[in-house]
Amino acid sequence: MTSAPPFPHRHLLGIAGLQPHEISYLLDEAEHWVTHNRQAAKHDDRLRGLTQINAFFENSTRTLLSFEIAGKRLGADVVNMHAAQSSVKKGETLIDTAMTLNAMHADAMVIRHGSSGAVQLIADKVDCPVLNAGDGQHEHPTQGLLDALTIRKAKGENFAGLRIVICGDILHSRVARSNIHCLTTLGAEVRVCAPPALMPAGIEAMKVAPFYDFDATLDGADVVMMLRLQQERMSGQFIPSPREYRHLYGLTLERLARAKGDALVMHPGPMNRGIEIDSNVADLAGRSAITTQVEMGVAIRMACLDVLTRRTRGVEGWA
Ligand code: CP
Repeated sequence: MTSAPPFPHRHLLGIAGLQPHEISYLLDEAEHWVTHNRQAAKHDDRLRGLTQINAFFENSTRTLLSFEIAGKRLGADVVNMHAAQSSVKKGETLIDTAMTLNAMHADAMVIRHGSSGAVQLIADKVDCPVLNAGDGQHEHPTQGLLDALTIRKAKGENFAGLRIVICGDILHSRVARSNIHCLTTLGAEVRVCAPPALMPAGIEAMKVAPFYDFDATLDGADVVMMLRLQQERMSGQFIPSPREYRHLYGLTLERLARAKGDALVMHPGPMNRGIEIDSNVADLAGRSAITTQVEMGVAIRMACLDVLTRRTRGVEGWA
């Protein structure tokens, strides 16, 4: 009798629906790559001969580069498609674009798109594993995983008992959604804080507590995760002004003192210094994990590419 592989999914489209042991499995796999990436020689050949296509229909620095580095370190042939320089600009549809990439025999596709659900649409049409690199306001699963790994490395493996505050533009944030799914599934207490206009209606259904007073939210926090205002997804005025937003919701040193004395400061980037987070907090040695998040991002993406291509590679127990 053959048992199911520890991560039985063909694609990584979101964190919602993953089991705690499946998330922990990806985090455990990534630990190996954290150690590996700290060596001088970072090359590993397990994806040799495979083609990885990164198709980004929205801008990115961290996610695109770390998926590219991850694939190259694993030995894959990595190709980047930037929508701005592609035939999408000539009116080609998303499905036709996906079918075109599929016909090139990609072995893994990493997709970022501005519309929620677009990555699922592509996954339904192609023959290879698809990894969601962020779709609209929906999910950014590798960000959720890399944030969980960052927290686990600082606070230990037991998420139960951790109080994690996520503050900012919750309404438009796929990072918030993936983190909420990931951290609550692992057992943490998650508090979300935002101005009323930037808090999704019914957020309690995601097993989080909504707060509108940032000072009160920070009480007893082990982790404070700040999010930027996603102006590119806003139509209309959601805040009176950046200055007033900082006054009520910006993470300053004074505010950070309300959290636990060893509270970890996180931000997925890109940051708007002086609005949602002050520079002296973002750069606070021993407390800010922002560059660690970037490091964990490469390891998580290596783990996800490795695990999701095991079936293609005929790895024992995964075929
Ligand atoms: N955190 C994140 O997704 O950053 P990029 O938009 O730079 O990829």
